[in-house]
Amino acid sequence: MLKFAALLSAASLIPAFVQAAAPLYGQCGGQGWTGDTTCVSGATCVFSNQWYSQCLPSNQQPQPSTATTVAPTTAAPTNVPAPTTAPDAGNPFNGYTIYLSPYYADEVTAAAAAISDATQKAKALRVKDIPTFIWFDVIAKTPQLGVYLADADAKAKASGEKYLVQIVVYDLPDRDCAAAASNGEFSIANNGMNNYRRYIDQLVAEIKKYPDVRIVAVIEPDSLANLVTNLNVAKCSGAQDAYKQGTTYAIQQLNAVGVYMYLDAGHAGWLGWPANLNPAAQLFSDLYRAAGSPQFVRGLATNVANYNALNAASPDPVTQGNPNYDEMHFINQLAPQLTSGGFPAHFIVDQGRSGVQGLRQAWGDWCNVYGAGFGTRPTLNTGSSLIDAIVWIKPGGECDGTSNTSAARYDTHCGIASAHKPAPEAGTWFQAYFENLVKNANPPL
Ligand SMILES: *[C@@H]1O[C@H](CO)[C@@H](O)[C@H](O)[C@H]1NC(C)=O
Repeated sequence: MLKFAALLSAASLIPAFVQAAAPLYGQCGGQGWTGDTTCVSGATCVFSNQWYSQCLPSNQQPQPSTATTVAPTTAAPTNVPAPTTAPDAGNPFNGYTIYLSPYYADEVTAAAAAISDATQKAKALRVKDIPTFIWFDVIAKTPQLGVYLADADAKAKASGEKYLVQIVVYDLPDRDCAAAASNGEFSIANNGMNNYRRYIDQLVAEIKKYPDVRIVAVIEPDSLANLVTNLNVAKCSGAQDAYKQGTTYAIQQLNAVGVYMYLDAGHAGWLGWPANLNPAAQLFSDLYRAAGSPQFVRGLATNVANYNALNAASPDPVTQGNPNYDEMHFINQLAPQLTSGGFPAHFIVDQGRSGVQGLRQAWGDWCNVYGAGFGTRPTLNTGSSLIDAIVWIKPGGECDGTSNTSAARYDTHCGIASAHKPAPEAGTWFQAYFENLVKNANPPL
């Protein structure tokens, strides 16, 4: 996972009216841009995408992408299956019992067994009754979705309650293009798009078998956000077309089987910088409309696996310069721009590890932030008509990335001062980290 503090932070500190030229890291062009198109001395205006050019240090120009021939952009959908039912008009979580991941419950039970302090052990065990999303981060896990859906279906029939299973779709080719810790299994160069379609098809095949279970999916954490701000990273510009095609395929196919979807939208410290809001809203809206406006796309997910508050009591010092210093400010600013682009402005917000603020040395610190605590419990009582649910998307205790500097997926963010060390590989259990999340939970467990 990349949790990137905006490249624009420096620019955002400087009011536009004092500029003779766009500042370092400032915007200098793009569709609808009316500001300066020249950069201050030492910076060069570099084309990122049709919405965005940016002043980058002249001595650090991005390397040309290895993918020099860009495939045609996503074609208008042909042969896209239509859903058999219309989505509920309102909040898809309303009236549903959320399925508890047995895998996470097992992890938590084992973790609690390793805690000797009786009070902490009891608190830890409470975590297994709090719903988290289930991540499908490799194709080999797709059959497991059928197992969970069958279990949820049986529980629904036994209890008379309606069940909802929360999943994360996370297997794009060249995944995590601006970081290293969560590199995926598929590469664009090696048949990645076909493999990704197969991954989606396998999820769809399982979902079709259980029409009575509702599914809410977060689509591809970090991917589209990387296309908004990180096209100066060669792997991201090389992945741009695949990310768009893959996302389009995912939302069209999952729409056809009635999966309620929230596309990942980064967080306040990423797309929430004022200069990034409009390019982000444009990207989401354009992609959505080009995909045929799939009805089951409900909105966006924010703060996935991150640490921001929904409502910060006061701005964390690391957010300085961004008026959108928490998720609520970010959402309130982004929503009208989405609406004007024709994109449904509903949100879910991850608060699983947001219990403690003021921990980070930089807003971009995203890896196993030291001292974090479990946050607000999942609830539909969100305090905002824009937000359908506060959710726990990242299963707390599963590692963000290894701190082993010799490991292939080592990312420097996992070795910095504010990261908890030593840390195992991304996705694997991190006992010491889990114990801290329990101890620092806010509200307490
Ligand atoms: C760190 O990674 C290297 C390379 O994979 C491995 O040989 C070594 O055992 C790892 N060290 C630790 C402490 O896990």
